[in-house]
Amino acid sequence: MTGGAEWQGRVGRAWADEWRRTDRSFAAFTPHLLAAIAAQAGTRVLDIGCGAGDLSLGVARARPNAQVTGIDISSDLIAAASQRAAETGARHVRFRHADAAEYRDADGAPDLLVSRHGVMFFADPPAVFRHLAAQSAQGAHMVFSCFRGRQHNPWANLFDGVLPAAIAAPADPLGPGPFAFADPDHAQRCLAGWANLTFTPVDFTYVAGAGDDPVADAIGFFARIGPAAARLATVAGDDRAQLLAAMAGVLETHLHHGQIALPASAWIVTAQSDHA
Ligand SMILES: C[S@@+](CC[C@H](N)C(=O)[O-])C[C@H]1O[C@@H](n2cnc3c(N)ncnc32)[C@H](O)[C@@H]1O
Repeated sequence: MTGGAEWQGRVGRAWADEWRRTDRSFAAFTPHLLAAIAAQAGTRVLDIGCGAGDLSLGVARARPNAQVTGIDISSDLIAAASQRAAETGARHVRFRHADAAEYRDADGAPDLLVSRHGVMFFADPPAVFRHLAAQSAQGAHMVFSCFRGRQHNPWANLFDGVLPAAIAAPADPLGPGPFAFADPDHAQRCLAGWANLTFTPVDFTYVAGAGDDPVADAIGFFARIGPAAARLATVAGDDRAQLLAAMAGVLETHLHHGQIALPASAWIVTAQSDHA
């Protein structure tokens, strides 16, 4: 489970430090999501759970006349996103520290809501989606991505053999976390206030390590992001060294052509607000 409290603390800080490697892991997927977003009209775009801002910045590049707002519950990630935006000089993208469950934009209702894997972490998804629909312009469109099931995402279970079972297999697979919307039927029940749903599967390659030492690079990534990171945060000394060595052993078996690259798969979900 990864809920709001984790994102406001250790997990959000790790993602703020690691945005280059998380963006890399999504690099083969993001163009598919941007293409799906490009198919929808919208001049007031809201990126939900924007993280370090990669999607917001991509949408802003594609829509110079739109106002793009990224919101996130992690202040560390909003700081990282704001710094990136300042470096690009783009004036029509802004980032706000906010919980999607309570967000209101005093300047006007969004007419296009987007997210790259930022909507699976709500404690009460139907309440949040109903709120987002109510805050949106009439007939607003939404385009977001989320992971498909673990069977399509072997990167997620990479270290099962070297992690305690309770970490490898979360108690509630539908609870807040990366796989909360893996099942479209369940996701549909969560999307209160939204109609005309479509789910399109997209397979992609998840690059976890590259460069001079891809295994060390991937270790650096997985030591901060994902289930092994949660475990590593609780161990020290020899236990930590042993776990890192075991992870390196697993990663060696996935080194091909100078990369640790693993199959991955996501849904691109489209919807329209039924808020009249
Ligand atoms: C898997 S990360 C994705 C980040 C970013 N969209 C990206 O693609 O790099 C999920 C993001 O959702 C944010 N998040 C989780 N719960 C949230 C909430 N209730 N309101 C706003 N953001 C939230 C987290 O802080 C985190 O940045």
